[in-house]
Amino acid sequence: MSHLLESIDLQRYFPVRKNGETRQLHAVDGIDFHLAAGETVGLVGESGCGKSTLVRLLTRTLDPSAGQVRFRNHDLGLIRARDMARHPQRKNIQMVFQDPTDSLNPRYTARQTIAESVRLLCGLGRAQADARVDEVADWVGLPHALLERYPHQLSGGQKARVGIARAIVSRPALLVLDEPTAALDVSVQTVILQLLDRLKRELEMSFLFVSHDLNVVRLLCDRVLVMYLGQIVESGNTDAVFHAPAHPYTRALIASLPGAIDGQTPGAADLLVGGDPQSPIDPDPNRCRLLGRCPRGLAPCAEAAPVLSAIDDSPRQVACFYPTLVQYARH
Ligand SMILES: Nc1ncnc2c1ncn2[C@@H]1O[C@H](COP(=O)(O)OP(=O)(O)OP(=O)(O)O)[C@@H](O)[C@H]1O
Ligand SMILES: [Mg+2]
Repeated sequence: MSHLLESIDLQRYFPVRKNGETRQLHAVDGIDFHLAAGETVGLVGESGCGKSTLVRLLTRTLDPSAGQVRFRNHDLGLIRARDMARHPQRKNIQMVFQDPTDSLNPRYTARQTIAESVRLLCGLGRAQADARVDEVADWVGLPHALLERYPHQLSGGQKARVGIARAIVSRPALLVLDEPTAALDVSVQTVILQLLDRLKRELEMSFLFVSHDLNVVRLLCDRVLVMYLGQIVESGNTDAVFHAPAHPYTRALIASLPGAIDGQTPGAADLLVGGDPQSPIDPDPNRCRLLGRCPRGLAPCAEAAPVLSAIDDSPRQVACFYPTLVQYARH
């Protein structure tokens, strides 16, 4: 399968001042990533692990410190983030943001917001642009009367529809969704997720889906990437990862789901990863980043950092010296 989007050894460090010295915060630290046309890939991991930084690098709205980003074999890494808005590939890669209230301009009506996107991405004249806005409103189930409203006159779910409409005006090949439902009530979340799932099929888009909610990822995604302190620690087909999480951190994430793992399962007691993550500032390159939180944490883990590698003949990859291959019963 050819890759739609790919990154090679992608890095983003942020300089920070600590005790009078400049040090480097490793927000994204050497990520190899790929996504095929039509695929839905989920990205999970705790707050601050670098998910948003990674998607901003992949969509080229943030410049990497090092590494490559390729979209349909075009090297997007050569384009400065500030020039990306005018790049011909921009219409093929679009983003939906976490909080529709923050990401919509309060001075624009829904129609103006969507029309601006039509103008930027589709290059249509005024009359055609208006017709396009109506058409896209139909795709996302937004009644035309609501198009004349400002964000403060819309509900959370309606604002989410505007945010999605704005992103799909040009029928992008790839939609990157950074926690698209996190700001919504649970009942509205379900409706918006169903809408996204339908649009994905109808418009034949690929999704990169960032979420805290593992159940959502399990439902929507073909493949899942688990991120920890700027790195991918496990990746694989969603069902395989959920049935037999191989990395201790993935096991802990899945164990935290209500009813996810049978308390009687051998080894269930050592699933929980306690404490806080290490600092992302200048992490020691010669030890596992989970050390101190991991129930294993053996001598080799303090001497070298495990790299992401295949553990069997499936597409599964794990960055751990002691991956677990036990299958857990799910309820
Ligand atoms: N502009 C910046 N300057 C300095 N540090 C930054 C900057 N942007 C992000 N960071 C740091 O990079 C790390 C990754 O942040 P990021 O927002 O990508 O995490 P996240 O996984 O999206 O978190 P959340 O789940 O809370 O959205 C964090 O330690 C954050 O503090
Ligand atoms: Mg984020």
